Amino acid sequence: MKKKAGIYIHIPFCKRKCFYCHFATIPFDSQLVNEYLNSVKNELRMKSNSGYVIDSIYVGGGSPSLLEEAHYFSLMESISKYYQMASNPEISIECNPEDISNEKLKIFKNAGFNRLSIGTQSFIEEDLKYLQRGHSVNQSLKAVSIALEHLFSNLNVDFIIGLPTQNEKSLDLNYSHVERFNLPHVSCYLLENVLPAHSSEECQHKLYNFTRKRLGAFNHYEVSNFCKSGFECRHNLKYWKNQEYIGIGLSASGFQDHKDYKNDDDFTDYLKKTRQNILPVKEINSINPVSRKIVMGLRRLKGLPISSFHSYSKELAFLSDENLLIKVGNNIAVNPEKILLLNEILTYFV
Ligand SMILES: C[S@@+](CC[C@H](N)C(=O)[O-])C[C@H]1O[C@@H](n2cnc3c(N)ncnc32)[C@H](O)[C@@H]1O
Ligand code: SF4
Repeated sequence: MKKKAGIYIHIPFCKRKCFYCHFATIPFDSQLVNEYLNSVKNELRMKSNSGYVIDSIYVGGGSPSLLEEAHYFSLMESISKYYQMASNPEISIECNPEDISNEKLKIFKNAGFNRLSIGTQSFIEEDLKYLQRGHSVNQSLKAVSIALEHLFSNLNVDFIIGLPTQNEKSLDLNYSHVERFNLPHVSCYLLENVLPAHSSEECQHKLYNFTRKRLGAFNHYEVSNFCKSGFECRHNLKYWKNQEYIGIGLSASGFQDHKDYKNDDDFTDYLKKTRQNILPVKEINSINPVSRKIVMGLRRLKGLPISSFHSYSKELAFLSDENLLIKVGNNIAVNPEKILLLNEILTYFV
């Protein structure tokens, strides 16, 4: 019997590098895009596996919305050439708001994308200025609005929370746009990797807890993700449910046959290896499967079955006494009030 799996494809090109961004990116260059996509297609071929049925594809970045029509079509063509597709796959693409136009949306539809994730970050001009974004609030609002007109009903917007320019009132305004558009999915990421910390931990907790309350009509299904019923991101759920996914492209990660791997993050090395038909894999790890299941599964607010903790009974007892882990039906989950301590909690299971 074939296994269901997802494919993540990393498109590293961006018009400019945002100071806060820790993803693998390189400056946009149309010549390099063609070379890179040839490498990606080569990698798709090298990793082809007849034991899989692909039911999710996630094209992330970087800024995949910068590509041209022919690029999207040839990527999709390669995937269906080398992999068996499920009958109704979820096919997502990450978009920068300034790249979205009526024409682009038609291209996305025709190429087969059925889920968009738009990097709006905030609908407040002051926040965008702080983040030095390349788009205005109006551009973001228009992007969301025309995406809905083009019937991309499976739509996510990204917010970054914990900015020094933010407070509960401005977040409230952000979320009122989510309500007005009746959006089915919102990702709210706490600002990470910006040193020195731009806003205190206490402030971050406050804004995060406000978000949880304000988005009470949504299912808070993962630390940073909120959705209306039936709109969980199928691809991202694979990460947290310990399911298999193939990672393609610069710095991409994958999980196949009980092994985690990470691709090269040096662009030259990546091109060189894939041109020579060598897998561009930088490291492979076999993580204890029980530990991996817990570490990934505790990111979900519903947690995971109590039986998953059989080899960690002492840790479970201690963390439950500390009120960090709680029982939710037959599952064990992180106490939602303590979710910002997740990374510390996870250290007990690695
Ligand atoms: C891989 S990025 C691609 C998004 C797209 N290029 C854009 O900028 O609109 C996906 C999301 O990660 C989030 N992100 C990036 N850097 C972050 C950081 N330092 N802290 C928190 N979230 C971050 C942003 O919300 C962003 O939309
Ligand atoms: S545009 Fe997006 S992916 Fe590119 S540097 Fe900025 S946040 Fe990172």
